Amino acid sequence: MCGIVGYIGYRRVLPVLLDGLKRLEYRGYDSAGVAWPEKQKIMRIRAKGKLNMLEEALEDFRGTKTTIGLGHTRWATHGEPTEGNAHPHADCTGELVVVHNGIIENYYSLREELKKEGHVFSSETDTEVIAHLIEKYLEDDLEIAVSKALERVEGAYALGVLWLKQPDILIAARKQSPLVIGLAERECFMASDIPALLPYTNKVIFLEDGQMAALKGDSLELKSISDRKPLNKSIQEIKWDASMAEKAGFKHFMLKEIYEQPDAILNTYRGRIIPEKGQIKFDEINLDKDAIGRIKRIVLLACGTSWHAGLVGKYWIEKWAKIPVEVELASEFRYKELLIDNDYLTVPISQSGETADTLAGLRIAKELGSYIISICNVLGSTITRESDGTVYTHAGPEIGVASTKAFTSQLTALYLLALYLAQELGKLSSREIGEKLEGLMTVPSIIKERLPAWHESAKVLADKYYSYSDFLYLGRNLQFPIALEGALKLKEISYIHAEGYAAGEMKHGPIALIDRNMPVVALCPQDHVYEKMVSNIEEVRSRRGIVISVGVEGDEGLERISNEIITVSKVADDINPFIFTIPLQLIAYEIALARGCDVDQPRNLAKSVTVE
Ligand code: AGP
Repeated sequence: MCGIVGYIGYRRVLPVLLDGLKRLEYRGYDSAGVAWPEKQKIMRIRAKGKLNMLEEALEDFRGTKTTIGLGHTRWATHGEPTEGNAHPHADCTGELVVVHNGIIENYYSLREELKKEGHVFSSETDTEVIAHLIEKYLEDDLEIAVSKALERVEGAYALGVLWLKQPDILIAARKQSPLVIGLAERECFMASDIPALLPYTNKVIFLEDGQMAALKGDSLELKSISDRKPLNKSIQEIKWDASMAEKAGFKHFMLKEIYEQPDAILNTYRGRIIPEKGQIKFDEINLDKDAIGRIKRIVLLACGTSWHAGLVGKYWIEKWAKIPVEVELASEFRYKELLIDNDYLTVPISQSGETADTLAGLRIAKELGSYIISICNVLGSTITRESDGTVYTHAGPEIGVASTKAFTSQLTALYLLALYLAQELGKLSSREIGEKLEGLMTVPSIIKERLPAWHESAKVLADKYYSYSDFLYLGRNLQFPIALEGALKLKEISYIHAEGYAAGEMKHGPIALIDRNMPVVALCPQDHVYEKMVSNIEEVRSRRGIVISVGVEGDEGLERISNEIITVSKVADDINPFIFTIPLQLIAYEIALARGCDVDQPRNLAKSVTVE
């Protein structure tokens, strides 16, 4: 998704813009640009490619003293990734510039209207239409012109606007695409996401849909776009500091985030459990026992890795709370006939809280009367603000495109949700809940202690298998979703074709794939389907497939039938998903590294898919 940074204050603007854009690189982009007022005109420098190309283009402007400007990294949705399509975009005069994240759905009709009125366009983008539309309404007040223009716009936007004739004000506006305002002493920032603000401030305002802000450096006015009515500001304090959003010495954000999982899991359950009493506290759910008693079905709604978390959550909720659960791919859910009513609980699961399909599904479920509890990692994100309650994961900023700590934090939230529902419905005794909480509380230390050994094993496996072009991941029961997740990790950062499969399905087709060119990652805990899993492994071996097992330490029988093995601690069956996931993340990471892939920003992918 595109990245927006805007600044007005006392600092030289170009270093602030470039620093902010660098912190948003994880959002995925293919070109970048900045704009600022200088010597009675708006300077606009853009470049295709990574930010270093923009920095080169800015070489001659290092001495710029201007303290207001806009920056942008573009993830192309309309128009090729070229310098001409890069933001900021300008109106006919070149004195008004905009940066935008989102999609203007009626841009074509607006562009035709503006062309008829004499506006000349220089790009293929939908964004440029906004610049000319503001110009159309521009007299002597930028806010009024922006308000009038946006009333004509259909679609999604996070917008930054700068006009040469009012060089002491930046306008920010938002509808469906995230935009956060940072506040500090004598300076204001706008950005698409929190990491761009953290070096300067942790006091933020999340713009809501239909809101605009006039940033004036030492002050900020929040208004509604439609009538410019002043609005109250709700300033939030972000607990993340800048270092959390840095790599902290790791080679990649993804590796840092894999190693952060013990803390992410701990921070997600901390304050929500009383193990000695076998109790879960979930005030944020705002559901009393009667309301929970009326839930006849739960829908877990998500995309990608978050959907895999939902598949695991289903096992726990149905097993402990005895409530039927459907796990829905949001991109399918939003376009099909739904039987949802007000006896449903819908749980959107989203790291970013901005995924377009999941947000659309939330809105449909809400419209049909469902109560909405989201599980999300980003405070104040759109999905959380449209939910009746949110169970926040506390994984901290997840910068790597491949989701890791957010996934295990989502598992933690789902584990607690399943226990909470069971508690409120009286399906589990406090003793049983206490035991399960004790099991959960062992996870952070197990991961922390075993990570280095798992990492070493992953490096050895990567050296041997990084050049293979196909992988199969097999799991049963709680490990089936983990097999899907392991395969997704590998494919999205190493570009190797990898499939996750229910091991019991092998004989229904996939076993035809097995030969010496097919490494098979088999997840084989000593649970109630262990023997079945061992049979699957032997079927693979007998067809000369390469078996890479993840199994319990000391399992000599498994070791004998495996080409390779990574061992994990023996834990309760329900805890296995937390543990088995980590070696798979490391295998994907090390193989991607061995293949020279861009681990944190894999090709074609973005961290948050805020468009369809
Ligand atoms: C997972 O590694 C991917 N980055 C992707 O599948 C992601 O999980 C999916 O896009 C959902 O994102 P969300 O959790 O922010 O909604």
